[in-house]
Amino acid sequence: MDYQSIKVEYDNGIAILTINREKALNALNKTVFSELRHYFSIEGPSKNDLIGVILTGAGNKAFAAGADIKEFTALDVEGAKALSQNGHEVFFLIERFPKPVIAAVNGFALGGGCELTMACHMRIAGAKARFGQPEVNLGIIPGYGGSQRLVQLIGKGKAIELLLTADMIGAEEAHRLGLANHVVESGEEVEKAKEILRKIGTKAPIAIAKTIECVNACFDKNENGFAYEVNAFGECAGTEDFQEGAAAFIEKRRADFKGK
Ligand code: CAA
Repeated sequence: MDYQSIKVEYDNGIAILTINREKALNALNKTVFSELRHYFSIEGPSKNDLIGVILTGAGNKAFAAGADIKEFTALDVEGAKALSQNGHEVFFLIERFPKPVIAAVNGFALGGGCELTMACHMRIAGAKARFGQPEVNLGIIPGYGGSQRLVQLIGKGKAIELLLTADMIGAEEAHRLGLANHVVESGEEVEKAKEILRKIGTKAPIAIAKTIECVNACFDKNENGFAYEVNAFGECAGTEDFQEGAAAFIEKRRADFKGK
């Protein structure tokens, strides 16, 4: 696909997706959504040797300053529901992606931008990262899962405070609350994410995918996460990689996983 609003690069099995609308602080417009949908449903799954994906924002000011407010002017009730539904679908594709997805948060992650980081499996905050859900300032609420995932990540009490006050928090506070996995110097976000992905890249890919599924099942009201884990554990035991992992341990050598 010829991407217009995101940039897609690869580095030794790691995809780096950059939201590329620096002048609009990487606001998430329709094109960004359709390109993210394409990546996570078509291009990403077609890459057999993909270790994981890093999402970041162009420039040094914003990861993404939210949904593109300039697209909101003509929204009616049905249009807003459709916009929200579309955002949910794309963010579920990210959350359910079988390879780890890490947000490298290089600046403002507000509204839909914060929600995008929360759909990722981990968040690396640069020193200039600012997280927040300012939607109530606009007379709306988060539309891309923020009212759910913020509660999941930091708990009801603090989440509701951030959602109701529209306060922004910095990298250290995000780390203290468990929203950011790590805080790094500004400009080091992508490198830290690569370091984590390179480590995950040495593990068994099916076990990684099954772990992501099980963790997601914990928050899926239609699933029994414990039963999901029993099945997933069984499936992993049926893989060649499990044979290889166990043999490598016994033979005191490094496992050579094939993803089979
Ligand atoms: N949508 C569209 N354009 C945006 C934008 C957004 N969310 N955020 C910033 N921009 C644009 C500005 O309009 C401006 O463009 P122009 O130069 O053409 O005027 C450019 O980016 C630079 O922005 P500022 O001049 O405002 O930069 P600043 O440094 O003074 O302020 C900011 C930075 C505090 C992040 C401020 O831009 C801001 O508050 N942005 C909006 C944040 C927001 O409310 N996000 C939530 C959106 S709603 C949402 O996301 C709903 C949902 O869940 C579905």
